[in-house]
Amino acid sequence: MLLVAKTLYGLENVLANEIKKIGGKRIEIRNRAISFEGSLELVYTANMMLRTATQILMPIKKFKINNADELYKKGMQVDWSKIFDVKKTFSIKSTVNSFLFNHSNYPSLLLKDAIVDQFRKKTGRRPNVDSKFPDIKIDLHIENNFCTISLDSSGDLLYKRGYRKSVSIAPINEVLAAGIILLTKWNKETSFFDPMCGSGTFLIEAMMIAKNFPPNINRKYFGFTKWKNYDSKLHFKIRNKLKNQIIETKVEIYGSDNNQKNIRICRENINSIFNYNSIKIKNVDFFETTTERKSLVLFNPPYGERLRIEEDLFYEKIGNHLKHNFVGNEVWIFSQNNDEKKLRIGLKPSTKIKLKNGSIDCTLNKYEIFSGKNKERFN
Ligand SMILES: C[S@@+](CC[C@H](N)C(=O)[O-])C[C@H]1O[C@@H](n2cnc3c(N)ncnc32)[C@H](O)[C@@H]1O
Repeated sequence: MLLVAKTLYGLENVLANEIKKIGGKRIEIRNRAISFEGSLELVYTANMMLRTATQILMPIKKFKINNADELYKKGMQVDWSKIFDVKKTFSIKSTVNSFLFNHSNYPSLLLKDAIVDQFRKKTGRRPNVDSKFPDIKIDLHIENNFCTISLDSSGDLLYKRGYRKSVSIAPINEVLAAGIILLTKWNKETSFFDPMCGSGTFLIEAMMIAKNFPPNINRKYFGFTKWKNYDSKLHFKIRNKLKNQIIETKVEIYGSDNNQKNIRICRENINSIFNYNSIKIKNVDFFETTTERKSLVLFNPPYGERLRIEEDLFYEKIGNHLKHNFVGNEVWIFSQNNDEKKLRIGLKPSTKIKLKNGSIDCTLNKYEIFSGKNKERFN
């Protein structure tokens, strides 16, 4: 069957690779999404295993309409009672870019009426809509007069991994953090250091990657667990298989932050998923840190929209500190780029990757910090 995994801007290729590794077929890259083919088994696996997907959709009907009424009629053609029980609640999320509709809520209303009317005709009862915590999430996509109705197999978005017990002031989205680490092509053997670790998202995602730990293995409820065809035996079988593939690692993953409260939050988050000692963290200022051994250094310093700092000076200081104290390491910085000044750290990136953090344009820059005579390469 056809499946669509949604992702964030710039992570499409990373996600396509992940899907290939778990056995997806006929993989096609779209805008912030990947379409692929796979079985129900793959739907379960994808939800537990994919690090850079935000949601896995299963399209159930694709059609063309010439007017709004046709959406209702086509919605009636799906046998909804085969998909979910009348006792379940549901919600519809529409993305509409069509000359046929002025208001994006209207298509959702039409499809809702089709579902409710069909159940009522068949059973005399109707399922209720629950916009906050629905059992069944339905996705309606309309582009001009082409419509796709999909079931959301994930339920809660997949970045909600469950390990974040509390958050620091500006945590990075878990899916984005995992995608960034995969973009660095970290070899899982070189030490990994985040010197501005905040709530620890990079550290935890890096440990998950190193251990081959499926990011959503501990989640009990997915959208697919509420479908009529839910096969709990298959779900548990896959979960056990994935658990057995988790490996021990000796790689050193460590972090620091100058904010004591963030270090406490980071500790709580790490403890909620891994052993206390598996990731070392320290309450220390970046400008007093260095790497004990060759490391991949990855961090997202604070930036304007979220944290108030004297940006120019701060970024310049970061560059100076890296030049003098991080020689021999590969350093990756993820930061806002809408104002070039903010990236004036005085080092020339060897790689620049465009990404977004929410609606903010960002870049992931790689700096190779050479020693002695090569230092002049950085200005
Ligand atoms: C954008 S947040 C990083 C968020 C983190 N990646 C997460 O997922 O929670 C920036 C972090 O840098 C820390 N920070 C700011 N200035 C610092 C400094 N001079 N030394 C160390 N940490 C610093 C802040 O306390 C904050 O936790």
